[in-house]
Amino acid sequence: MALSPIVEAEAKKRRTFAIISHPDAGKTTLTEKLLLFGGAIHLAGEVKAKGERRRARSDWMKIEQQRGISVSTSVMTFDYGGCTFNLLDTPGHEDFSEDTYRTLTAVDSAVMVIDAAKGIEPQTLKLFQVCRMRDVPIMAFINKMDREAKDPIELLDEIASRLALDVAPMNWPIGMGQNFRGVLERESGRLTLLGDASEPEQTIADRRSNSLADRVPAAQLADLDETMELVDGALPHFDVQSYREGHLSPAFFGSALRTFGIRALLDGLVAYAPPPRPQASVDREIEPGEDKVAGFVFKVQANMDPKHRDRVAFVRLCSGRFMRGMKLTMVRHAKQLAVSNPIFFMAGDRELADEAWPGDIIGVPNHGQLRVGDALTEGEPIKFTGIPNFAPEILMRVRLGDPMRAKHLRKALEDLAEEGVTQVFRPMIGADWIVGVVGQLQLDVLKTRLEAEYNLPIDFESAPYVTARWCDADDSRALDAFRTQKKSSLAEDRDGNPVYLARNTWDLNRIQDDFPAIRFTETRERA
Ligand code: G4P
Repeated sequence: MALSPIVEAEAKKRRTFAIISHPDAGKTTLTEKLLLFGGAIHLAGEVKAKGERRRARSDWMKIEQQRGISVSTSVMTFDYGGCTFNLLDTPGHEDFSEDTYRTLTAVDSAVMVIDAAKGIEPQTLKLFQVCRMRDVPIMAFINKMDREAKDPIELLDEIASRLALDVAPMNWPIGMGQNFRGVLERESGRLTLLGDASEPEQTIADRRSNSLADRVPAAQLADLDETMELVDGALPHFDVQSYREGHLSPAFFGSALRTFGIRALLDGLVAYAPPPRPQASVDREIEPGEDKVAGFVFKVQANMDPKHRDRVAFVRLCSGRFMRGMKLTMVRHAKQLAVSNPIFFMAGDRELADEAWPGDIIGVPNHGQLRVGDALTEGEPIKFTGIPNFAPEILMRVRLGDPMRAKHLRKALEDLAEEGVTQVFRPMIGADWIVGVVGQLQLDVLKTRLEAEYNLPIDFESAPYVTARWCDADDSRALDAFRTQKKSSLAEDRDGNPVYLARNTWDLNRIQDDFPAIRFTETRERA
C-alpha cells in the first residue's frame, strides 16, 4: 500500500471524538462552548434553543420525525489549535440505542462529562464500557464546579474505582460553588481564575501578583497548597501512552456554563488525543496515510425528506484523500457509486464537501444501497471489522392491523433496520416478525415512524423471549443439525444468519451446555 505524505499530514491534524455523559451533566452546554472556541458558532445557544434542552420523550420523537435537527447536529466540525475537530453526537436521551454504540465505532477518542455533584451515573458507565471495549481513550471533564460539588479527591477516587482506571488531574479546583475561584494547572503551576462573562478566564503566572491577593483569599490559597501536596503524593501524573492505551484518563475541572476550563480541555485534545488510528479489516489494517480512499458507514439516516425515500449514509473516512465527484466502490455490491453530492456537517449547516481526509465524516446521499458496516473504497474489497450488532434486550412481536399489507411491513421493517432503528428477526416457524431493541425508546420510534412514514399502524405484543444470540459453528453439519432440532426457537436476522431466541437465562445456559459445538454470541459483526 502506498502512503502519501499529504494524506498523513492531514490525518495527523484530525481529532474525531464523541462526548459521553449522563443526561443533564452538561453535554449540550459543553458542545456549545467547544463550537464557540472553534469559531463554528458565534453565540452560545445556537446548538439547541434553551427550551429544547429538557426534551421530553414526545418532543424528541417529534424532532426525530422531522429529521432536521438530529441530522444537522449529529456531526459538528470546527477548527482549533491547528487541528480539525469532528465531534460526533451520541443521542442524549436516557434510553440506549444502537446508534449510540455505532457512533462510538467511528471515533478515535471520547470526552466524558461528569457532573461534579453526582459523579459516575448509569449512562456514563454504559457508554464508558463501550469505549473501553474498543480501547477508545477518554478525557474527563468535571463539570459544574461553580455549584456545590463532591470533594474533588473523593470524586476522582470514585471515578478511578468505578471505572477501574487511573485518573490524573490536569488542573485542580480552587474552591467550589459560590467560592469557586478557578484552577491551578498542575504541571505549570499557573493559576487560571474565573473571570466574568466578557473574559471568563484570567491566567496569573506569578503567585506574588497583587491581583491574585485581591481575588483569592489567603486562606483558600494556603488550603490549595496543602491539598496539592496531598494530590501530588496520591494521584497519578498524566502519561500520554497510558492515556492512549485507555488505562488512564486525564481530568479537567471546569464549568461549561461559565465557559471555564474549555480551553484547557481543547488544548489537551490538540496535544494528546489520538489522530485517526489504523482501522481493522478482515485482511489487513488500513493506515490513515494510505493514498487510496477507504471508509465505512456507521450510521444511516433515512427519510430526511418524507416525500422522497432518500437516505444519507454517514461515512467515516479511514484513509486517502476524498474528493467530490469520486467514484467509489460499494464493496458489498461490488458496484460503483458516484459521490457527487457529499455533505459536510458544519454546526447546524450542511455544505458540499470538496475534499475530506482520514478522520472526517461525510454524508453520502443514496437510494438505500448503503447500510451500516458497508465499506466504500477505490476498488479494494475491504471488509471492515468492529462494527457490531448488539444482542437485543427487548424482543417484541409486530402485529399489523391490516394483514393484506404484510409485504409493505416487511419492506418498512427492513428499511428501518438498515438505519439501525431496530433489529428484525424472522422466526423459522410462524409469520409474525420479531423486532429486537436495546432500549424501550427504540420501540416508540419504530411505531411512530411506521405509521407516519409508511402508513402502517402496528401494535406490539410481547414475545416470550428475553434475549437473542447469534449462532455459529466451525462445523457446518453441527450447525445444520442444530437448526433442524431447534427450529421452533430459531429465527433469522436480516442477512439470514441463525439467531437463537432464549426464553430465559436458564434456557440460554441449557442450550449452550447441550450444543457445545455451537458458538452463541452477544454481538455479531456486520458482514
Ligand atoms: P445535557 O446536554 O448533558 O443533558 O446537559 P445540558 O448541557 O443541557 O445541561 C443541563 C443543565 O445543567 C442545564 O440547566 C445547564 O444550564 C446546566 N449546566 C451545564 N453546565 C453547567 C455548569 O457548568 N454549571 C452550572 N451551574 N450549570 C450547568 P437547565 O436548568 O436544565 O437549563 P437552563 O434553563 O439553565 O439552560
